[in-house]
Amino acid sequence: MSAPNKSYDPVEVEAVKPDEVARHRADALAAIASATTLDELHQVKIAVAGDRAPLALANREIGALPPAARAEAGKRIGEARNAVKQALAQRQEQLETERDERVLVEEAVDVTLPWDRAPRGARHPLTTIQERIADIFVAMGYQVVDGPEIEAEWYNFDALNFPPDHPVRDLQDTFFVAGKQEGQSSGLVLRTHTSPVQARTLLAQGAPVYVVSPGRTYRTDELDATHTPVFSQIEGLAVDEGLTMGDLKGTLDHWATAMFGDGVITRLRPHFFPFTEPSAEVDLQCFVCKGASVGDPDNPCRTCGSEGWIEWGGCGMVNPRVLIACGVDPERYSGFAFGMGLERSLMFLNNVKDMRDMIEGDVRFTLPFGMEI
Ligand code: DAH
Repeated sequence: MSAPNKSYDPVEVEAVKPDEVARHRADALAAIASATTLDELHQVKIAVAGDRAPLALANREIGALPPAARAEAGKRIGEARNAVKQALAQRQEQLETERDERVLVEEAVDVTLPWDRAPRGARHPLTTIQERIADIFVAMGYQVVDGPEIEAEWYNFDALNFPPDHPVRDLQDTFFVAGKQEGQSSGLVLRTHTSPVQARTLLAQGAPVYVVSPGRTYRTDELDATHTPVFSQIEGLAVDEGLTMGDLKGTLDHWATAMFGDGVITRLRPHFFPFTEPSAEVDLQCFVCKGASVGDPDNPCRTCGSEGWIEWGGCGMVNPRVLIACGVDPERYSGFAFGMGLERSLMFLNNVKDMRDMIEGDVRFTLPFGMEI
């Protein structure tokens, strides 16, 4: 800003001279008129109406004029600035209208186009059943955990008390991951069950622990109506002080009721698994006939084949050797575990006859299961 101009001569104060003001005003109006987009107009606005615009700078000079000259200069500059402001607002409105009209044309939706060329997708029933089961256990205070599908042999077998020469390690059942050089073992397998998550969880979290772990598992089976090399299981593990087989049975019964309906219970049949002792197979009471079809040829049951019970999975009390391998004191803690096949559960739950339907990914199979979330 110039110093106070005591001996006023407006001609000496360049910026406020009428010619100068008129020139800046004309320049500004021309720049506004030539802006063809809203972005351009924004730039022009900064140049002609911003703090450093010529008319704004001229306005600052008014204070440097002697009082008698201020009114006249102020009026001149004020008028010019108002004219610029108005022109900016008008051009802004014009350009916005043009833009809206263009968007309406460019983004028009042709509602007469066929709408069903890309059929709607659907969540896979294996996903929704995993979530339903997980919800039941989360409501009981369990945590949902995950484990890798490419697993170390140690977790898949050794930690779970499978002796080194156990036949299940045989190539018939297990996909071994090849070593870097031929003939060399990588020590990795595609996990044959979700049980290695038991060992991982115990090592990571110690006891007490209550977890379920759904996921994909692999075995070298040929794909047919009742076998698939890639299938899914859900694993359960509870380790705490004083857990007994009664707790296991109560947990399974609660799960059966929550999933299959009131009054549906389970029964345990003695079995062998290296990682549980004692071990059992779990049968589910047929949730359709509740056993009424047994010995009644007039009322056969398709769900349980008139057996009254459906094979559901395996379970048992965690073998103390597993607890020791995972650093948990078996004198203080005991636990139970269980594992169920999810494809099998879906098969008897929904009368699916061919397992291949579940893995082909055809949306015509998945859609009827609905969009449960
Ligand atoms: N891992 C077993 C299998 O794939 C199933 C199983 C049995 C899991 C007993 C368990 C269990 O946790 O306690 O055949």
